[in-house]
Amino acid sequence: MKFQSIFILLIQINFSCGDFIKSGKLTDNENEYRLKTCGMEGLPIPSSEPTLTNTSDTWMWYSESKSSNRYSGATLISSRHFLTISNNILKDKMVWIHNGSNFTPKCLGNNLNQEVPQDVVNTLNLISFDCPPSENSNCKNRTAKPVKAYLLNICDPYVKKWFHIIHSPMIVEVKEVYAKSTPCLDGSISSFGDIYSYRFWSNKGFIGMSVKVNKTHRNSLVVTEFTNNWTDRGGPLISVKNGKWSVIGYDATGATLKKGTFLKWFYRVQRLKNGICEVSGVCDRMMTSAPTTTTSTTELTTTVTSSGSSENLKTTTLPTNLEPEYDYDEYEDYPTNSEYLELDYKFLMDTVAGSSFRNIKIFVFLILFFVI
Ligand SMILES: *[C@@H]1O[C@H](CO)[C@@H](O)[C@H](O)[C@H]1NC(C)=O
Ligand SMILES: *[C@@H]1O[C@H](CO)[C@@H](O)[C@H](O)[C@H]1NC(C)=O
Ligand SMILES: *[C@@H]1O[C@H](CO)[C@@H](O)[C@H](O)[C@H]1NC(C)=O
Ligand SMILES: *[C@@H]1O[C@H](CO)[C@@H](O)[C@H](O)[C@H]1NC(C)=O
Ligand SMILES: *[C@@H]1O[C@H](CO)[C@@H](O)[C@H](O)[C@H]1NC(C)=O
Repeated sequence: MKFQSIFILLIQINFSCGDFIKSGKLTDNENEYRLKTCGMEGLPIPSSEPTLTNTSDTWMWYSESKSSNRYSGATLISSRHFLTISNNILKDKMVWIHNGSNFTPKCLGNNLNQEVPQDVVNTLNLISFDCPPSENSNCKNRTAKPVKAYLLNICDPYVKKWFHIIHSPMIVEVKEVYAKSTPCLDGSISSFGDIYSYRFWSNKGFIGMSVKVNKTHRNSLVVTEFTNNWTDRGGPLISVKNGKWSVIGYDATGATLKKGTFLKWFYRVQRLKNGICEVSGVCDRMMTSAPTTTTSTTELTTTVTSSGSSENLKTTTLPTNLEPEYDYDEYEDYPTNSEYLELDYKFLMDTVAGSSFRNIKIFVFLILFFVI
C-alpha cells in the first residue's frame, strides 16, 4: 500500500512538472501531444516554378544573425524548437561569425551534437512574416527569443568533411510557445508523398517549389526540378502524404549538384532524428520492450541491409555522364569501409544507452522515495 501511494505521488510530480516547465526539452506529455497533432497545418501548395508563398502565421520562419545580417530558413518542429542550419553563426571554415575565432567541436565518446555557446545564441533572432513581404507597408514581423541552440551531428565525419559546403543542421529552442500544429519529422522512403521545397530568398520572402526526389542516400536526399538563386538562404524539404505534412530534408546552401541540372542536395532528416530527440525531446514514440543484446544485433543487421538497398537505388539512377559539382557521392559510397559500420554501431549504442539511462533515473527516484 505504501509503495502504491509513493508511486501515485511520483506520477503527480511528473505531471505537474510537465505543466509548469515550459523550457528545455519537450516533456513526454508534450511530445505525445506533438505526435498526435503534427502535420495537420500546411502551407500553400507551390507549382514547379518558384512561387512566392504566404507563410504568415505558420511554422515557416527564418533566423537572422544580428551581428552579421545573415539569414537562414527555420522550421518549427515543436511548440518551441526550430530546425535550421548553422550558416548564420559559423563561416564555412568553422569560424564564429560574431568574433572571428575558430570553432573546434569537442567530440567526446558517442556524442555527435554540441551546444552553441550562449553569447552566440544571443546573436540570433527568429522571425516570421505577419503578412506576405511584398505588402510590407504597415506589416510587422513577429520575433521569438532563442534560449538554447545545438549543432546537430557536428561530430559525424560526414558533416565534418562537407561542412564547408553544407554547414551543419541546428536546433534552436525559443522562449515563446507556438500553439498550433507543427510538421512531423519523417524520412522513411515509403512515407514520401508529394514533395515541396520552401526556401527563404533574402530579398524576397519564402519561395515554394514542387520538386521530385531523384536519389535517397543514407545521409542525404537529392531532388530534381529545383531552381537555384544566389539569394537563397535555405529551408525544409517537405513531404505531404494523405494530408500529413512532414519535414524529410533540410538545407541552407545555394549549392546545386551541377549547374543547369536542377539537382539539389538536402540533409536527410531520418539521419538527424537521434540527435534532434537527444537535444529537444522531439522524438518518435518509444518502442515498448527493453533493449537486449539480441535486439541490438537484429537492428544492426537491418541497418546494414537498408543501406545496401539505398546503394542499389543510387547505382540504378545515377547517369554515367553526370559529374556532381560537389562529389557528395564519394562519401556516400563509404559503406564499403569498416569505419562506416563502426559509426552505425555507435549510433545504435547511443540509442540503447540513452533509454537505459532514463530507466536508471526513474529507478533512482523510486529508491530515493523509499528511503525517505
Ligand atoms: C496570408 O495568410 C494569412 C494567414 O492564413 C491570411 O490571413 C492572409 O489573408 C494571407 N494573405 C494573402 C495576401 O493571401
Ligand atoms: C569567440 O566566441 C567563442 C564562442 O563563444 C568563444 O569560445 C571564444 O573564446 C571567443 N573568442 C574570443 C577571441 O573572444
Ligand atoms: C521583415 O523582414 C523582412 C526580411 O528580412 C525585411 O525586409 C522587412 O523589412 C521586415 N519588416 C519589418 C517591419 O521589420
Ligand atoms: C535523376 O536526375 C537525372 C539528371 O537530371 C535524370 O537523368 C534521372 O532521370 C533522374 N532520376 C529520377 C529517378 O528522377
Ligand atoms: C533570383 O532572385 C532575384 C531577386 O529576387 C531575381 O531578380 C532573379 O530573377 C532570380 N533568379 C532566378 C534564376 O530565379
